[in-house]
Amino acid sequence: MGILKIARMGHPALLKPALPVQDFGTPGLIQLINDMIETLADAGGVGLAAPQVHVARRLVILHVPAERAGEGEEPEPLSIMINPEIVPVGDEKVLGWEACLSVPGMIGAVPRFREIIYRWADPAGEQMEREASGFHARVVQHECDHLDGMLYPMRMTDMSQFGFAEEINRNRELLNSIREGDGEEEFEEDGEE
Ligand code: NI
Repeated sequence: MGILKIARMGHPALLKPALPVQDFGTPGLIQLINDMIETLADAGGVGLAAPQVHVARRLVILHVPAERAGEGEEPEPLSIMINPEIVPVGDEKVLGWEACLSVPGMIGAVPRFREIIYRWADPAGEQMEREASGFHARVVQHECDHLDGMLYPMRMTDMSQFGFAEEINRNRELLNSIREGDGEEEFEEDGEE
């Protein structure tokens, strides 16, 4: 068990597409999962993808703690998702604030599908499927993007909504009034991913 080093934006490990996991239940995979759980708990995020800890494999862990779930949304216990796939339900996208352990100190507003179906294998290799919406759907999309070398700033459509979390949170009211003036769509709460 150990805490792993998290790659920061600019490191090529974050840009490399990850390969599918083929062997389940191996000591190496179990060790990696345990280390990622420990690393995420230490860093205090909601999700972590293997490429963030320099392992180019299609594995993510994520949870939605009660304090991060949006209004009317359920918290989600920690999921260990291997070889996940996402299918959007409809084409509606919503803007919401995101943060990333690989982009420390920053947040940005990112458009994501409001609702998705996602499928993955658990650590024993059993196939799972779920529907998600709101912040839960956002976290899944953010984490799975890491497996394709995508970081959330690369998904942003308006870089004026990217900045230091400290500044944006301090000026949230002002920024919201600017956005309302632009007729922007609704904003969801942010979360560290
Ligand atoms: Ni991230």
